[in-house]
Parts: sequence; structure tokens; C-alpha cells
Amino acid sequence: MLVAVLASGCLRHVGASGGVTIGAAASTAYLGEARYAEVLGREFAMLTPENELKWDAVHPTQGSYRFGPTDALVAYADQHGMQVRGHTLVWHQQNPSWLTAGGFTPAELAAILDDHIAVVVGHYADRIVQWDVVNEAFEESGALRSTVWSNGLGPGYIDRAFRAARAADGEAELFYNDFNIERAGPKADAVFAMVSSMRRRGVPIDGVGFQAHLTADFPANELVAQMARYEAIGVDVAITELDVRVPVPASDASRQAQAKVFGDVLAACRRAANCDTLVVWGFTDRHSWVPSVFSGLGAATPLDEEYRPKPAYDAMVAALQRT
Ligand code: XIL
Repeated sequence: MLVAVLASGCLRHVGASGGVTIGAAASTAYLGEARYAEVLGREFAMLTPENELKWDAVHPTQGSYRFGPTDALVAYADQHGMQVRGHTLVWHQQNPSWLTAGGFTPAELAAILDDHIAVVVGHYADRIVQWDVVNEAFEESGALRSTVWSNGLGPGYIDRAFRAARAADGEAELFYNDFNIERAGPKADAVFAMVSSMRRRGVPIDGVGFQAHLTADFPANELVAQMARYEAIGVDVAITELDVRVPVPASDASRQAQAKVFGDVLAACRRAANCDTLVVWGFTDRHSWVPSVFSGLGAATPLDEEYRPKPAYDAMVAALQRT
């Protein structure tokens, strides 16, 4: 039964009829694994390179770019009729030391930022449909995070990055992406204020990515409210990195609670007029970033370690089929 469901490529097809593009983060590290490569292309209509486009991977030494790994993922996406999301152009993590310890002047940093965005976005223009231009720029308090970019260029680095991205690709949808903005709080408010201000000032931003690294007690009605206020100012939203961590080994009860969150988040996106994309951050418990970062927690994806659908998978299908 479950095998038959998977064999039909259920998620991406049901997603297409339900009006939501369902994607997954994927890594070149696992593409050589037959089951991984088979399930990824069959179940998902969009692919986000999990690490391959971060600065340390794509721009490892100053001025020299390494596109091979992302090109391989894009070739895989081409073969399987998948769209590609770009992640991410500006972040405070996974940066090479030439950048963070380079002692650059503000003018040099600005040129480095402009150049990076022009080259990377330019390389994938017409292929990458959505870009996470800036990732995680705020602290939980709502203060601007101190990073190589904010320290060197001030808060204006964010506008600058979006303008550079638009100059390099006039078509791709440009997103600000963050975590813990799925429910009310000072960080969610700070992001909303920034995005509202960018729109008023004509800075080219199209959407906000809710990462959605969640726990099984997440109240999805809060997400509905957060999405709605962006709709009111004409800004799109996407679920960009959904996973729902539970204590491991998972119990039947936690699998059910997790399934409810997967289903509710997808239903929230489907209902919102400004949401048409949901990406899971890893699709099998065999390869997920969660256990290495959240001690004692894991089993956070819709498929188990043997690629069998969990209740979370069924809840996603149900959320897409509901009339
Ligand atoms: C994670 C990757 O999944 C890991 O493989 C890597 O070691 C660290 O980064 N928010 C993000 C993602 O925007 O880029 C992070 O991805 C997870 C949290």
C-alpha cells in the first residue's frame, strides 16, 4: 500500500493539483545513493541545495568560484523536471575565513558582496526561480545580528544585497529567510517592519521565507496570522526549511503529533493566497541535519531512515487533497 503511494510520486503530483510546489533540500553527498536519488526526483518538484551555494562552498577563495556541486544538483533537477531554489547569498554562517578574517574596508566589503551576488546569481539566472538573498539577519530580540556584513556595512547591506540580486536576475523571486518568525514575537515583528520598509522604499524584495524548523507542539494558527500580514502588504511567503523534531527514538504519539504539524503547516500555505511553495529540509530521517544539532532530538522528516512514509507524509498528502 505505502509502497504504491510512493511509486506514484504522490507528493509532487498531489502538490501540483493542490496548488503548492513541494520541494526538498538535497545534498550532492547523498545523490550517489540509489534510493535517495530515486525518491528525491519522484516525490519533489523543487530542490534546494542544502549547503552547496553557501559562501564556503561556492566561493572558497577570494574571487574564485566553485560551481561544480550546484551544477550537479541543477543537472539532476533538469533530468527530473524540478525547479531550483537558491540558498543563500548572505549569511553569518558557513563563510570562508578569507571573508570573515580578511580585515576589509567597508568599500572593499561592498565590492566583494556586489561581485559575489552578480557572479553567483548570474551563473544561475533563468534556472533558479527563488533566491534566499539574506538569511537570518536578526537576533531573537529583534536586534540586527552582528555579522561581517552588518559590522562592515551597517544595516544597509540588506538593501544592497537585494538590489544586486535583482540586477543579476530580473525574474527570480527574491526572499528574506529566517527561523522563529513563524509565530508572534520580537523577531517576527522586526522582520515584518524591515520588509514593510523595504517595500515602501522600492527595494526589490518579493517574499519572506519561513524556515519552519519546528517542534511537534507548534501552534499552526500562529503561522496563519504571520502569513496573513505579509499578504496584506503584497509580499509572498514560502515555507523554506520545514522539519519537525521529536525526541528519539520517536514514539507513536510523537509521530502523530509531528504529522499534525506537517499537515497544518502545509494547509496554512495552501490556504494563504500568497504561499505556493513548501520545502522540507531533508526528506528522509537517514539524512537530516537535526540530530547533529539538537541533542536527543531527530526523526524530523516525512520519511523514515528506510525511506518509508511516516504519518507526516500521509498528513501532507491529505492536506493537499482536502477540498
Ligand atoms: C544546515 C545544513 O542542513 C547542514 O548540513 C549544515 O551543516 C548547517 O546548515 N538554517 C539554514 C540552513 O538556513 O542553511 C541550515 O542548513 C539549517 C538552518
